[in-house]
Amino acid sequence: MKETTGASQSHPLYRQVYDHILNRMKRGEWKAQDKLPSVRLLAEELKVHRLTVFKAYRQLTEDGKVYVKDKSGYYVSADSVLVEEGVVISSYLQSNQLSDIQRNPAKYQFSQSLIDPNLLPNMFLSDYVKKVFDMYPKVMGTYATVQGDDELRESLSQHYKEHHRLQLSSEELLITSGGQQAINLIAQIMLGPMDAVLIERPTYGVALDIFRRQGARLIPVQITPEGYDLEEVENLMRMHKPRMFYMNPTHHNPTGYTVPVWQRKLLVELAERYHCLIVEDDPFRDIYFDVDPPLPLFAYDTEGWVIYISSFSKYVAPGLRICAVACRYPFMEQLIKAKSLADNGTPQLNQKIFLHYYTSPRLQQHLGKLRIALQVHKEIMEEELAKVGWEWTSPQGGLNLWVKLPEDISVEALFRKSQEQSISFVPGEIFDTLGEMKSWIRLSFSFANETLLREGMQRLTALSRTL
Ligand SMILES: Cc1ncc(COP(=O)(O)O)c(C=O)c1O
Repeated sequence: MKETTGASQSHPLYRQVYDHILNRMKRGEWKAQDKLPSVRLLAEELKVHRLTVFKAYRQLTEDGKVYVKDKSGYYVSADSVLVEEGVVISSYLQSNQLSDIQRNPAKYQFSQSLIDPNLLPNMFLSDYVKKVFDMYPKVMGTYATVQGDDELRESLSQHYKEHHRLQLSSEELLITSGGQQAINLIAQIMLGPMDAVLIERPTYGVALDIFRRQGARLIPVQITPEGYDLEEVENLMRMHKPRMFYMNPTHHNPTGYTVPVWQRKLLVELAERYHCLIVEDDPFRDIYFDVDPPLPLFAYDTEGWVIYISSFSKYVAPGLRICAVACRYPFMEQLIKAKSLADNGTPQLNQKIFLHYYTSPRLQQHLGKLRIALQVHKEIMEEELAKVGWEWTSPQGGLNLWVKLPEDISVEALFRKSQEQSISFVPGEIFDTLGEMKSWIRLSFSFANETLLREGMQRLTALSRTL
């Protein structure tokens, strides 16, 4: 393992080892006054040079997280571990900043990358619940199968074949409780401490937290409106031998960018050449405005180097928590085992309700109307942004605008003032592997209704002028 070039140089290897040690302390693996592993042992475990571990310990000592006893080694300081009523708060809970922001109620809600519930087919689904009970009177009387309802998997494999040219059998699909669970299960199977993961910069904040909790070493890959720099991706794969590349290449969260079709084929070739699993997270595929997005990377994969996660949370019913994961054996076998340990199967009732809605003609009608409504929302937000000259690239789909504020506006100050006025948005640094991107914010246009959207944007832009 070597010090790297490019973006990760601003987060050198010793700093990643520092974070890794701190994470393990916060998880309770090493408690206050515990002796830490020697420099030699930890260097062996993490497969890094001893000097790197030494630098990390020295920094931890300077920061008061660790103290040194002469000739005896390094020990955990009393105040370096957060303890609340005797319970060590997991690093995940500490770092799940996105959910903290979203939990705050706000009248002008631009932080939730969710669709206004009034635009979702709630009435129709509630009628369906009764029908589902009539069709399957014993649906609640037994466990679901771990891999997911047979009928649903069969129907989805057919759907993928027809719409996305994915050649899949139902055996190659697993139903999970949301896309987040899918990412979590994959991380559990694939990642140990200091395993390298390529991850877009910026990226979906929860994925960052999940990989960090596994102790992974995150290597950022810049995503732009034109996709990735493939030369850089190849260099990083060659240099770090990452276990996986987690990506959201279609109407990406938070930026809305879509990786072009020519890069998709080449990325699959790179994954095969460097034995790096691509985890393709694709919850926004069907939420496009004018043009259908390019085929998933999974469509070009013949060797089993792509796992395809397709959550239906966003535009059908977030509360049902239905997501399909497509991958080849033997990875599927491991995934099923992990799923059985996690919850023994996604609730059958949810799967049946989803199945009958998904295969009904109502779905296409709903999607058609939804796309128009979301495009109107996006345009309202863009009209207001244009008045203050903030920068963004208009996305072809998704739920968010990724906006760059002028350098003289402090996002932190704007965030604080906005909260006082019941306006919420997400500061860009939460999506950044390196915790930078301090001039950026994510504004979701999908949750607030049209009136609140315009009013809230006018208030937000007016606030920025007072800073
Ligand atoms: C890129 C991405 N992946 C996964 C998820 C989680 O989806 P789910 O609600 O199905 O867990 C989200 C939610 O915002 C997301 O943006």
